[in-house]
Amino acid sequence: MNGGEPAGLAGEPRNGTPRAVAVVFGGPSAEHDVSIVSGTAVAEALAGGGRPVSQFCIDLAGGWWLLPAGHRREGRRPADYDDPGALGAAGPFGAGEAAAGIAGARPRPVVFVALHGPFGEDGTVQAILEEAGLAYTGSGVAASAIGMDKPLFKRFARGAGLPVLPWLDVTAGQWAADRSGTLAAMDAFAADAPGRRVIVKPACLGSSVGMSIAWSPADREPAMELALRYDARVLVEPCLPTPRELEVAVLGNPPGELLVGGPGEVIPSRDFYDYIDKYVVDDARVLSRAEVDEATAARCQSIAGAVYALIGAQGFARVDLLLDRGSGRVYLNEINTIPGFTPISLFPRIMAEGGLDFADLCARIVDLGAAARAARPVRRLTPDDLPR
Ligand SMILES: Nc1ncnc2c1ncn2[C@@H]1O[C@H](COP(=O)(O)OP(=O)(O)O)[C@@H](O)[C@H]1O
Ligand SMILES: [Mg+2]
Repeated sequence: MNGGEPAGLAGEPRNGTPRAVAVVFGGPSAEHDVSIVSGTAVAEALAGGGRPVSQFCIDLAGGWWLLPAGHRREGRRPADYDDPGALGAAGPFGAGEAAAGIAGARPRPVVFVALHGPFGEDGTVQAILEEAGLAYTGSGVAASAIGMDKPLFKRFARGAGLPVLPWLDVTAGQWAADRSGTLAAMDAFAADAPGRRVIVKPACLGSSVGMSIAWSPADREPAMELALRYDARVLVEPCLPTPRELEVAVLGNPPGELLVGGPGEVIPSRDFYDYIDKYVVDDARVLSRAEVDEATAARCQSIAGAVYALIGAQGFARVDLLLDRGSGRVYLNEINTIPGFTPISLFPRIMAEGGLDFADLCARIVDLGAAARAARPVRRLTPDDLPR
C-alpha cells in the first residue's frame, strides 16, 4: 500500500478557514531583489484576504529566515532585508530544516515559491519541498528543471513540432579541447543566421546574465568566453534583428482548463532585453496588451498552452515568444515557470486585463498548488509495498 498523506495535511481549508500560506522569497540568484518585491507583494495580498501568512526570506548565502509573525514590509526597497536578523527574523535555517518546520506547522501551509532563477525556479527548491511532503505553488521538479534548461526545453519543444529557432550546443569541455574547431562550427552555423549574427547564451540561467550578441565573427570568441563564465553548457542561436518580444500568461493545472492571457509585449530600449535593460535602467516599455492581429495573438496563445502542457507545467508560467519582423514568423523562445510577480510585472498585469486582480490571482495560484499536491499524493514506499 502507498502511504498517502492524511486528508487535511496538504493545505486544504478546514471548516471554511482559508489556507495558510508560507511565502518564500529572496534567494541566492541575480533576481534576489526582484524576488523580494514579488514575495512581499504576494504576502501582503494574501494576508489582506484574511489568510494566515508566514514569510521566509532566503539570504544570498542560501540561509532561510523566518520573519516575525505579522511582519509587514515597511521600507520600499529590498535592501531592508539585507540583514534579516535585524528585522527580528529567526534563522538562518538550512532549506531542509526550514521545509520540515513548515511541514510541522498546523494548519500546514501551502508554500508560495516567489523565487526566480537558479535555486528557486529550476526544481531545486521544489525537490526540497517534495521531500517534506509540502504543497507548493507553480511547477514541480521536472517542469521547473526543463524550463530552466534552454537547450533541453528547446529539444522538448522541437520534438513536439513547436517552432523554435535552431541552435548549436557547446560545452566547456569542447571549447577547452578544440577552440578553433568550435569556432568553425559556429561559423558554419552562423551562415544561415540573418547577417551572420548569433546570440550566445549560458544554458541554465536567466535575467540575460552572460548573454551577448556576436555582431561579427570576431565577437564570437569573447561571447563564448562570457557565457562559459556562467555555465559549462552554452547555446548559440541565430540573432533575429530586433524581434518583437511577445509574452503570454498561462494559469492552470493540465489536464484541467488553462486560462491563457496575452500576448503582452516588451520593447527593449537597448540592443536586446539585457540585464541592464531589465534591472538597471528603466527605459524598456512593457505593454500588457501587444498590438498584434488576432491570428498572431491566437498563434502565440496556442503555442504557449501547448508547451505548458507539454513539459507538465503547473500553476502558472509566462511563455515568451519572438516575432521575426522580416518573415512574420513566431518562434517560441522560453518558458518562465516563476515569472516576475511584482504588481507591475507583466504576468499579473496580463491576468488583470482578463479580470483577475492581483489578490485573486495569488489566491488562485495557492489553490492550484494545493490541488496539484492533492492530485499527487506523497508516496514513501517501504519494502512491504513492493511486489514479491
Ligand atoms: N534568437 C534571438 N534573437 C534576438 N534576440 C534574442 C534572441 N534570443 C534572445 N534574445 C534577446 O535576449 C533576451 C534574453 O534572452 P532569453 O533567451 O529570454 O534569456 P533569459 O532567460 O535570460 O531571459 C530576450 O528577451 C531578447 O531580447
Ligand atoms: Mg527571457
